[in-house]
This record gives sequence, C-alpha cells and structure tokens, in this order.
Amino acid sequence: MILHNRGQIWKVGKSKVVSYLYISPPKLKCSPFPSLNPAAIMPADGAVYTTSSGAPVSEPYAAQRAGINGPLLLQDFHHIDLLAHFDRERIPERVVHAKGAGAHGYFEVTHDLSDITSQSLFKQVGKKVRATIRFSTVGGESGSADTARDPRGFAIKLRTDEGNWDWVFNNTPVFFIRDPAKFPHFIHTQKRNPQTHLKDADMFWDYLSQNPESIHQIMILFSDRGTPDGYHNQHGYSGHTFKWLKDDGTFVYTQVHVRADKGFKTLDDATAGRLAGENPEYGIESLFNAIESGNFPSWTVYIQTMTPEQAEKFRYNVLDLTKVWPHSEFPLRPIGKLVLNENPQNYFAEIEQAAFSPSHLVPYIEPSADPVLQSRLFSYPDTHRHRLGVNYQQLPVNAPIVPVSNFQRDGFATFVSQGSRPNYQSSITPLTYAGKKATLEGSTCDQAHVARHESFIGGAWRDLTEITELDFEQPRTLWSKVWNDQQREAYVRNVAGHFKNVKDPGVKARQLSVWAAVDQGLSDRIAAAVGHPSVQPLKVKPAAEAVKYRATLGFKLQ
Ligand code: HEM
Repeated sequence: MILHNRGQIWKVGKSKVVSYLYISPPKLKCSPFPSLNPAAIMPADGAVYTTSSGAPVSEPYAAQRAGINGPLLLQDFHHIDLLAHFDRERIPERVVHAKGAGAHGYFEVTHDLSDITSQSLFKQVGKKVRATIRFSTVGGESGSADTARDPRGFAIKLRTDEGNWDWVFNNTPVFFIRDPAKFPHFIHTQKRNPQTHLKDADMFWDYLSQNPESIHQIMILFSDRGTPDGYHNQHGYSGHTFKWLKDDGTFVYTQVHVRADKGFKTLDDATAGRLAGENPEYGIESLFNAIESGNFPSWTVYIQTMTPEQAEKFRYNVLDLTKVWPHSEFPLRPIGKLVLNENPQNYFAEIEQAAFSPSHLVPYIEPSADPVLQSRLFSYPDTHRHRLGVNYQQLPVNAPIVPVSNFQRDGFATFVSQGSRPNYQSSITPLTYAGKKATLEGSTCDQAHVARHESFIGGAWRDLTEITELDFEQPRTLWSKVWNDQQREAYVRNVAGHFKNVKDPGVKARQLSVWAAVDQGLSDRIAAAVGHPSVQPLKVKPAAEAVKYRATLGFKLQ
C-alpha cells in the first residue's frame, strides 16, 4: 500500500512503514503544497464543473423547484452543498495578529555555527530550507488597515530536515510585558471597549500607565517605526532569549535579529493615516507586487549570544523581554539569509491556515525560562487547535517535510493516520528513538554543568516583577542618545496625537509621570502638546532591587 502525504509517499509493508521518499510537487499552477491528489484538487483550467463529491453539474446557478413557482427540493444536493459550504467558509480569525500578509521563500545558512550549537542546519553552509513568512498587525481585526500604528508580527516557518522550526517574532526587539498573566489584560485594552465597541484611548493608556515596564516598547511604537512602510521593509527580532546547545552540554543564550537588506523603511504618521483610508491593504499589496515583479524582499539574519556566565553578570535579567542586549557588548553575528520569492497561490490555504508556534523547535534549540516565552509555548498550539483543529499540523502549509511518526491518531480532519503502524509503543513494530546528547532529549550528564546557573528548587511561588529604575535606562538612552532632534519631534507629535484623546485625569497624570521617569524634558514636551501641567517622575524602587535571581548567585547590583 502507498500513503500520500503532501509530496511524500510512505510505502507501507505488510504491517509497518518501511520507508518514505520525497516526490517533487506536480507542475501545476497550484499550491506549492500538493494535497492528497493535487490534480483532483486543482485541475487544469476549463475543468468540468462538479459538486464537492465530484459529480458533474450542468448549470451552477440553477436550483431544483417543485413545479414552476414552487419551493425548493431537499433532494438538490448541488444547491445544499453550495450553501452549506458557503455558510462555513469563515474560520475564527486569530485572537491577535488577525490582519496580515505572507509569502514563501527560503532561508540559506551562510555561516558555520558548530562552535555554539550542534543543530545540524548550522553545520551545512549553503543549505537552503523552504520558508513561509506571515507578517501582521496585532490589535486590529482581519479587515483593519495595514498601516495602523502597532507592532508588526514577523512569523517564519523553516522546514528543516529535523522538523519545522518556527520563529514567531515581532518587528521590535522588546515587548510590552514580562509577566505573562498581563497579556490578556493588555490585549483587551488595545482592542475594543466592551460597551462602545470603539477603540478607547483611556483603556489604552490606563493599562500602560499602570504597567510602566511597557515604556521601552511605547517609545518604539510611537516613533516612526510604529508605522513601517509595508510589511516587508522592516526588521524582525526574537525578543525572547532562547538556548542553543551543543553535544557537550554547554549552551549560549541567543537572540535572533532578521535585518532587512534594504533597511527599515517607515511612514510618517500623516501618510500612514491617509493610507489607512485610501488603501487599507497597502501592506498586502506592496508585498505581493514586490515579489510578482521579481523585486524579492531579503533579510540578513544575525544572532546575539551570551554565555551563562555573561548572563549572570549582565546588568539586566537575560530573561527580561523589555530589555535589549547592547550590540557593543554582544555584537551581531551573521548566520544566514532569508528571501521571499514566491507569492501564495491561495491566500487562505497557505497564509491564513499557517500555524506558527515558538514551541515548534528543532533539536539543540530550546526555550529559556523567560516566563512570557514559556506561556507562549502553550498558547499557540492551543489556539491552533481551536482555530484550525487538532490536526492543524497536517494542513499542507504546516506539515513538516519529514515524516511524522508517533502515536497520535484520528480526530477531526485526519488526512494522514500513519497507516497500519501500531498506535501504541509496540515491541512487535517498534519505532526508533533518536536521542540528542546533552539536551532535554539526551543524557542528563550536563545537569551538573548547569546546576549552579539554573537551579529551580523550592516550593511554587507567585511571581510578579516590580518596576525599578532599571526599567527607564534603555528608554532614556533611546530618547537622549539614539534619536536625533527630528526623531524626538516625531515621537512627541505621534504620541500626543493619540494621548490627547484620554479623558481620565488620573490616567493622564500617571502616564506623564512614566515619561518623566524616562526624562523630565520628554514628559514636559508631551504635557505641553496636550495642554497638561508638568508632572513629577513616577517614584520607583532602586535598580539594586531588580534581577532577583542574581541574589541567589551571590551577586550585588549597583
Ligand atoms: C504571553 C504573551 C503572548 C501570548 C499569550 C501570545 C498569544 C498569541 C496568540 C494566541 C496568537 C494567535 C495565534 C494564531 O491564532 O495563529 C498570537 C499571534 C502572534 N504572536 Fe503572540 N502572544 C504573546 C506574546 C508575543 C510576543 C512576545 C511576540 C513576539 C516576540 C508575539 C508574536 C506573535 C506573532 C508574530 C503572531 C502572529 C503569528 C501568525 O502570523 O500567525 N507574541 N500570539
């Protein structure tokens, strides 16, 4: 028996899967992800019109009636098939990042990284893996404007020989939160008011002013980087810290930077606002046209790395998503190239159904203990099971290029059920197990090496970070050292344009005190722009009280 699975064929012997081989997609103008029978799903133009069960029908507009003016007949499968399928066309939109655009391309390894990781991809300079990227805005619904002031999602699926590796990044190096339980609260305030169903400036700034660790991201969001020029003229950042391991049990903390070869292009506030009305699909359109005209968007991919010892001495918590790692201390190291050179043939199948997750990892790449990342590891597959169904990994765009062999079976929309292979750990037809040294899937001998750095002992406790002076250092550098006068001017103008809509005096004063903690001059300029008196800086704990985990290592922070 032969089982087809999107370009793979499993030859099934008497009772077990004995091998697989890869066949190239058929040469049809159809999805690059061939289905069970691509010729049947996407026949040539001029094909015979049929019902969903393949029966030919002579007239698509006609419905069967009882007599000339009578009611319709239940026996008319064509008509019921037509309407019933139409009634079910929509799937839930993503709870965040609902509006987006995407395309296919490749990631090419340009540098050997065997000094820091045993992940096989980085031992093969020149190796190309097929990639799918989806860009998105965060807060708006699937019909909202592409040029809205918002971070942009930058999600990448790499189809490696060891499974799919998803990079679920944003276009900013930092994020609004570092305590994951805040995420639903935060998102609710960026979306619609439950009563008015309007976006609500009071809700928006009420949340942010009560949670000032967001200020670093707010500095970036209201700069012109908050309105990128299209989806592809921007950088992407992992933001989170991951662990890249080697066979000997050593690891480096790693952040990934995906830098646009043509630079990060932005729109000014007025242009972004005008385009939101005139061409809300500006981002989808410009990405599609760039690829269609052969002007392929490309990025150079870099990493920053930090040893555990460096992390212990680092001024900020290596797991704190609201901080960047200064390039002067942790230089960018090139690793590869990313190119988008192929538009989807079918947006819904190849982009809307794409399901990314930071937990889709490959051997020797592991999550750090960053609590926001840890929560995301759960949240994405969970929402995919809701949005796309339990077999979302079997959808052509999501299916790995290597065979999946495990004990999961059945469920809604099962396309591949692994044939007659046992659905339990069988001694008669066993699977083979490939351990990866010194990783979660390998030996435990590396534990001694990491025990001092990472020892998770003691009872469970409720963790919530506190705001300290440390949280304002990087936003202050951005304001006073990184930006020029023109960028400072644009920031004040952009933020005042939104902040002026806040009605609640408490929220107004509190957010101005957050800006004053960054820089009194910055706060005063925003206050003047919205007609508010000057406000004193927010009082916060000293820097020495931050980075709690370092205390257990015997360090003192100044
Ligand atoms: C606790 C924090 C977070 C939670 C619970 C969360 C949850 C979610 C959920 C439920 C989705 C919808 C996924 C779907 O339906 O396909 C989503 C989308 C997304 N999130 Fe997050 N998120 C968090 C933080 C972040 C951070 C820090 C980043 C970037 C560094 C990020 C990047 C993205 C991207 C790029 C998408 C869109 C993926 C796509 O294009 O399909 N999220 N997030």
